[in-house]
Amino acid sequence: MTKLIINGGARLEGELKVQGAKNATLPILAAALLTEEPVIVYNWPAISDVYNMLSILEHIGAQVEYEKDRLVIDTRRAQRWEMPDRLAKEIRSSIFMIGPILARFRMARFTYPGGCEIGSRPIDLHLRGLKSLGVNVTESGGHIFCEGRHLRGGDIHLDYPSVGATENLMMAASMAPGQTVIHNAAREPEIIELQKVINQMGGKVRGAGTSTIRIEGRERLNGFTYTCIPDRIVAGTFMVAAVVTQGKITLRNVIPEHLFAITAKLREAGAHITVYEDALTVEATGRPKEMHLIETGPYPGFPPDMQAQMCTAASIARGTSIVVESVFDNRFKHVGELLRMGANIVTKNNVAVIKGVEKLHGAEVKTMDLRGGAALVLAGLCAEGTTIVDQAHIIDRGYQAFESELRMLGADIRRED
Ligand code: UD1
Repeated sequence: MTKLIINGGARLEGELKVQGAKNATLPILAAALLTEEPVIVYNWPAISDVYNMLSILEHIGAQVEYEKDRLVIDTRRAQRWEMPDRLAKEIRSSIFMIGPILARFRMARFTYPGGCEIGSRPIDLHLRGLKSLGVNVTESGGHIFCEGRHLRGGDIHLDYPSVGATENLMMAASMAPGQTVIHNAAREPEIIELQKVINQMGGKVRGAGTSTIRIEGRERLNGFTYTCIPDRIVAGTFMVAAVVTQGKITLRNVIPEHLFAITAKLREAGAHITVYEDALTVEATGRPKEMHLIETGPYPGFPPDMQAQMCTAASIARGTSIVVESVFDNRFKHVGELLRMGANIVTKNNVAVIKGVEKLHGAEVKTMDLRGGAALVLAGLCAEGTTIVDQAHIIDRGYQAFESELRMLGADIRRED
């Protein structure tokens, strides 16, 4: 069992280049199935979610080659339309594969996807959207079978602007004859990246970044080359690291616009943030101030993937902060662990009331989900004494070389496998 062992108290200082975005890379890897030509991805993050996605592609018959910065996928020989149960359970993003598999083979079979245990995370919006595109969906023995002989464009209204469902449906629709309109689509920056990629393939998608996306299906799509945008959640996590250690961190390779919601909250907490064209510096002196209300929401709202890290910052703030999780059920699993470290938090349903304490103290705590794990590492960095974060392999799903980057900034952190 992988552990991260942290001796808290070091002030983090230095400069760091932010890795490529997990949530942009994953759907774009799935999009490789929309073409029989090679696909090249630069600046990809070397994280376990990406390796799992590549294994699923290999299972389907794709050839995958990678080196440090460059990833090449060739799906010419892909022929399987069944997703491997074990891998699909590892990673929720395997659900994006359904759209491209259907577009390619007009059939797909899979089991319910896994990923972080965050609330119920159903896939009804994905399946209902596919039905609107003429796909016949049946379920038996824990497997879902999609038959798409009559895949065609259609009108879809999403009850909720789900990121994954929007991406999945964009990919299926890009090769469905006719026009598709997705109403109440998600507006995350990753959706805009997917639009760019499909258009580079010769597809026709308009409207990404707004709530209405229009797609004209094509019979054939070409290969593409894509350079991954910076990961806004990894950037946000390091921004909080600067705040809780009263340090100064400059992040290179960021898109400041993607970080507005996080920047605003951390400024409220008293951090000095200087924004450059593609970099920013976060400097903090003294304990953070309370943040009156942090409420998660679909983009451009406050990202749910930063909620846990903000709970850590609020735990040592000078007053009381309120955190409302409006996107996911059951996403406060890190709270129980923060309590072990001396935090003062009361939760009821999707609300956490956090009364800041002067210092957290080291404890043995357990990673329950990806971002919750990152939040515990942040807590360990500012706690008095030693913190052991168990099940730290879960953090590897989204952070590339997390502890060595933190060490470079001055943290006393090591890994034990
Ligand atoms: C994506 C991100 C994840 C982020 C989340 C919200 C990737 C790989 N993952 O996840 O890091 O936390 O967006 O920003 O991009 N829902 C349904 N039915 C569905 C689909 C979703 O009810 O069919 C619900 C979910 O349970 C959740 C909400 O919609 O409560 C948002 O989920 P969604 O936007 O789909 O998140 P993901 O795409 O899974």
